[in-house]
Amino acid sequence: MFSLKFSVIFVFLLYLSSSLFAFTSAVDPEYLIHICPNKNFSRNSTYQSNLNLLLSSLPRYTKSSYGFYREAEGLDPNKVYGLYQCRGDVNTTTCQDCVAFASTDITQRCPTQKEALVWYDECYLRFSNVSIFYIPVRYPSVLMYKVNNITVEPSQFQKLLSSLLKEAKTQAVIDPKKFATTKGNFTTFQTLYVLVQCAEDVWNTDCSDCLEEAISALPTARIGGRVLFPSCNCRYELYPFYNENLTPSPPVAPTPVLQSPPSPVTRPKGKSQISSSIIIAIVAPITFAAMLFLAGYCFLTRRARKKYYTAQEEFGKF
Ligand SMILES: *[C@@H]1O[C@H](CO)[C@@H](O)[C@H](O)[C@H]1NC(C)=O
Ligand SMILES: *[C@@H]1O[C@H](CO)[C@@H](O)[C@H](O)[C@H]1NC(C)=O
Ligand SMILES: *[C@@H]1O[C@H](CO)[C@@H](O)[C@H](O)[C@H]1NC(C)=O
Ligand SMILES: *[C@@H]1O[C@H](CO)[C@@H](O)[C@H](O)[C@H]1NC(C)=O
Ligand SMILES: *[C@@H]1O[C@H](CO)[C@@H](O)[C@H](O)[C@H]1NC(C)=O
Ligand SMILES: *[C@@H]1O[C@H](CO)[C@@H](O)[C@H](O)[C@H]1NC(C)=O
Repeated sequence: MFSLKFSVIFVFLLYLSSSLFAFTSAVDPEYLIHICPNKNFSRNSTYQSNLNLLLSSLPRYTKSSYGFYREAEGLDPNKVYGLYQCRGDVNTTTCQDCVAFASTDITQRCPTQKEALVWYDECYLRFSNVSIFYIPVRYPSVLMYKVNNITVEPSQFQKLLSSLLKEAKTQAVIDPKKFATTKGNFTTFQTLYVLVQCAEDVWNTDCSDCLEEAISALPTARIGGRVLFPSCNCRYELYPFYNENLTPSPPVAPTPVLQSPPSPVTRPKGKSQISSSIIIAIVAPITFAAMLFLAGYCFLTRRARKKYYTAQEEFGKF
């Protein structure tokens, strides 16, 4: 489905002020990125009507399902496969809102594409003209990280992060929702929060392999980072970015507690941090390059009230 050559495109986002985060309405999910490979269908085609059927029916399953649902609509060669997944800790209402939003948003972002994916903080939606069920997929992938580095005891931080990720991976693989969170004390004042999740329909071993790869791609020297693969994702932050009440509280890993004061750049305030920055890198087949740049462009225009830098860099093979 995807070529073996990859390009990396960096979208540098400068989050200038916390107030700029407040412009989405309460129910709108936090948009991260979308990707639509350039595989057009013609308007008013059978494919389009199948896709419309699929996208209108997916949100209906958010009431009964476990936060994940897959469905196919139509017959070959116009069959459309689609799925969504909500983050393991969000409640049914949030999941429902996110999937409903995504299913219309994706048609605006990728209006005539046979294949598309859109990521939000709360959920993820994807469709394709080829089967995407059960298959572990790592491309296209997105890396995101905060610009600020861990300045205090970075090696201790990485040690803690690595153990929390490992523990979360072990739990997620056997979890029915393929989801796990862990946390640990970094300094007296700072807690490190970790989240991992696989698509619910991948096998345990595929989940484990996928997370292994995602974790190894995670930039670990920053105050926050995440890796998004279609079949799994992982994230860490120095603030609680998931709902701790909704996740079964796992045993906290025994971790070294440092007595050092928090550095000025690592206040655990998350989104409200002034001038905190995020870098996104999309690792994707080289044939996606133009489209990805477009994706970045849409990202920019949609969030025009923020200041961004974009730059493109090619790394050849991933
Ligand atoms: C797909 O459609 C877009 C917009 O209509 C167009 O710019 C692009 O060239 C088309 N791509 C292909 C492969 O037909
Ligand atoms: C598609 O169908 C709509 C409504 O039936 C019509 O208004 C539009 O012109 C059609 N577009 C094309 C490209 O055929
Ligand atoms: C679901 O979660 C959202 C966001 O955390 C919250 O605002 C909402 O009240 C919750 N709804 C229910 C029914 O618990
Ligand atoms: C999916 O769409 C692409 C691009 O139009 C086409 O080359 C491919 O044969 C299609 N695959 C299937 C299974 O229909
Ligand atoms: C963080 O570390 C990286 C790699 O050492 C460096 O390139 C980058 O400039 C640092 N970021 C900040 C904000 O100091
Ligand atoms: C982390 O700190 C909290 C509050 O000081 C404490 O209750 C908890 O036991 C600590 N966890 C570990 C693993 O040290």
